[in-house]
Amino acid sequence: MSSKEVILVIGAAGQIGTDLVIELRKRYGDSQVVASDIRDASEEIMEGGPFVHLDIMDELKLNQIVKEFGVTQVYLLAAILSATAERNIELGWRLNMRSLSHVLDLGRFKKVKKIYWPSSIAVFGPTTPSINTPQLTITEPNTVYGISKLAGERWCEYYNSKFGVDVRSIRYPGLVGWTAPPGGGTTDYAVSIFHEAIKYSSYECFLSEETTLPMMYMPDAIKATLDIMEAPAEQVKIRSSYNVGGISFNPKQLTEEIKRHIPDFTISYKTDYRQQIADSWPASMDDSAARADWNWQHQYGLTEMVDEMMVNLKRIITVY
Ligand code: NAD
Ligand code: SER
Repeated sequence: MSSKEVILVIGAAGQIGTDLVIELRKRYGDSQVVASDIRDASEEIMEGGPFVHLDIMDELKLNQIVKEFGVTQVYLLAAILSATAERNIELGWRLNMRSLSHVLDLGRFKKVKKIYWPSSIAVFGPTTPSINTPQLTITEPNTVYGISKLAGERWCEYYNSKFGVDVRSIRYPGLVGWTAPPGGGTTDYAVSIFHEAIKYSSYECFLSEETTLPMMYMPDAIKATLDIMEAPAEQVKIRSSYNVGGISFNPKQLTEEIKRHIPDFTISYKTDYRQQIADSWPASMDDSAARADWNWQHQYGLTEMVDEMMVNLKRIITVY
């Protein structure tokens, strides 16, 4: 790994950014990773290395930061997630698209060398084959968020083929972690359930018990992100976005796993508008292209993920 790399993370205060900045600083050095967000991040992120406030809609300030720090790589994580975007169509569309065009233009005009931008399982829709969803298949998303991610994928491929921009992307499934809270997605139940189980031994779920979705434990998501970013350019053959699979489960199966740790845990179900979003997404992913091209392998199964979530959250949650 080159110590000359200077990495800018945009959206560093969020669920993924919090874990990603910590891992990037371990690998590249604290002073080499500039964390940024429109809001304050955790103390560890703000004091563990450079931190700047940045509204990604402000292209001038983005360019100033890139110049000032000599940024060579950008990880763009700022976005409005599925559930929030459905409630604020204009913001979801504007922020998700304009943030990407600002960052892709850094690559186009040779201001940075490499860009990471995540897509999502939300690029798929109700007409997509749901089981073992192929890399190349029908993509007819019916959510604001999914439409913005699909458009983003097309822009990434366009900037790579027309302007040679080294942009890399994966379609994250729903992510489960204990370090930072999730930011307004449809898969957020799979994090909240742990907090409520530890605090109150009960949880009211906004998705139905049989809603199976592709999911992943955060350490695997961070590993996938760094695996693709550190792979030789010629191995990254898909420049729209790669499927990455981890585990698939539904609220009922997750409940059974949590009960191994909290036997009196109970779950009830009250579905809301997020059910319709979840129903439009696949249940499992075919990630053979990522496995073949840059050796992707996930490490955590459902049981291992639940065990680690429980140990870490019990340590940090105060039970009243
Ligand atoms: P998050 O909501 O937790 O974090 C996003 C961060 O962006 C927040 O800290 C927010 O303050 C920041 N932000 C919002 N508007 C901004 C602006 N104008 N300027 C600068 N920062 C701004 O989201 P996340 O879960 O960390 O997701 C990061 C990326 O990964 C997003 O592109 C998301 O679509 C994608 N993704 C996440 C998941 C998941 O399950 N978490 C799954 C699929 C894809
Ligand atoms: N976890 C994300 C969401 O639910 C999927 O992109 O919005």
